[in-house]
Amino acid sequence: MTTRTFPSEFLFGAATAAYQIEGAAFEDGRTASIWDHFSRIPGAVINGDNGDVATDHYHRYREDVALMKELGLQTYRFSTSWSRVRPDGGPVNQKGIDFYSRLVDELLGAGVLPWLTLHHWDMPQALEEKGGWTSRDTVDRFVEYALSVHDALGDRVTKWTTHNEPWCSSFLSYTGGEHAPGHRSVREGLLASHHLLLSHGLAVRELRARDESLEFGITLNLTNGEPVDPSDPADQDAARRVDGQFNRWFLDPIFRGEYPADIVEDIRAVDAEAVAAFEAAVQDGDLEIASTPLDFLGVNYYHGEFVTGHVPANPAPVGEAPSAWPKRSPFPAMDGVHWAERGYKRTTMNWEVDFAGLTNLLNRVWADYAKAVEVPLYVTENGAAYDDVLVDGEVVDTERVEFVRGHVAAVLDAIEAGTDVRGYFYWSLLDNYEWAWGYEKRFGIVHVDYDTQVRTVKASGKEYARIIAARSVAD
Ligand code: NOJ
Repeated sequence: MTTRTFPSEFLFGAATAAYQIEGAAFEDGRTASIWDHFSRIPGAVINGDNGDVATDHYHRYREDVALMKELGLQTYRFSTSWSRVRPDGGPVNQKGIDFYSRLVDELLGAGVLPWLTLHHWDMPQALEEKGGWTSRDTVDRFVEYALSVHDALGDRVTKWTTHNEPWCSSFLSYTGGEHAPGHRSVREGLLASHHLLLSHGLAVRELRARDESLEFGITLNLTNGEPVDPSDPADQDAARRVDGQFNRWFLDPIFRGEYPADIVEDIRAVDAEAVAAFEAAVQDGDLEIASTPLDFLGVNYYHGEFVTGHVPANPAPVGEAPSAWPKRSPFPAMDGVHWAERGYKRTTMNWEVDFAGLTNLLNRVWADYAKAVEVPLYVTENGAAYDDVLVDGEVVDTERVEFVRGHVAAVLDAIEAGTDVRGYFYWSLLDNYEWAWGYEKRFGIVHVDYDTQVRTVKASGKEYARIIAARSVAD
């Protein structure tokens, strides 16, 4: 057995998001976000669950920060709720922003570095009614919101993420219909992705103009799609499409100032009108703004993907949300892509556990995009849902213990290969509202009893605390 140690500047943390944990949905001036609205549509979310109470973090943040300290977390990634800070996308709500100010003070007092995400999917419903991310006006509303959060917290928060997983807030939400606002339009997904990227670049420019010493980045959900047979052209094409739609659609504009031409053509082949609308929306200078230099790139990684262009004899179980709505691929260029089973362990989301996939992904993103411009990577989310049970005050989540160990070691493998990875955030600190899956899926290293709101550190939380204290993994 060898023990390998993390570089001294490497940060260990955990992540959450406002709608998934805060509750207090209509308190102190907050008004509806698209998730308050969507979760009430019959059939949209399992059990009709919503975030009205969630883990009641709005009232229990002190207890939650104390837990972070107990676990030894060095950093905590959270998001601010747009509808709390600027209800209906309108003027600033002082009580709303005051909550985040108290939270940041509590974190700093506990020695935990605050890592702020401005948009983790919960845009004000009033803005959605004006077109949401399909509307170019939303770009300016987002920048106003970003600046108002900076007005209040810019003196204490140094790490700023514009958007979390823009693939989800565009394609999964406006094309796939699985997430709020639940639309099913290729055109809307394309427009939303462009406006998210534009608003990201514009917000970074405006925020950086105010204070150059702060660090700005974006978090993408990236994937490591491996072809079943690397020498089979149809399988290679499936891997190209998956890479194009999940990774390059966002990485190329951000790092190269262009959309991937092959994917644009794949979409044009199935929906020429949607692509024409998208091309009309991309104005001169937009891609220059979208490619505004970053200080870091956040990578969210959850699972491996084994892809083929043939109908597989052994199809992988599908991990899509249990929405009652009719299904379709959340991205048109995905047509013809199938997922095959290769016998890896799976989480209760049906997601494949693939440690090496994380190493490969980090090395690839570094080599192809980040290295040339020296942008460090952070794993801003990685986690797993299992059927946890609380027995005699303990949750023995052995599978998650292995999941954490394996992925932390996979990050170290990437660092040892020369990739500049500077942090790892487990998703999530707490069990919470898993979007279209409601409260059914538990991702936390801390168990939450939703009847009593009692928190219990799981075995995985204890293991993660040990890893953080030792700053090393043994394998
Ligand atoms: C990524 C998202 O950012 C987060 O909100 C979600 O809960 C996790 N994936 C797990 O699905």
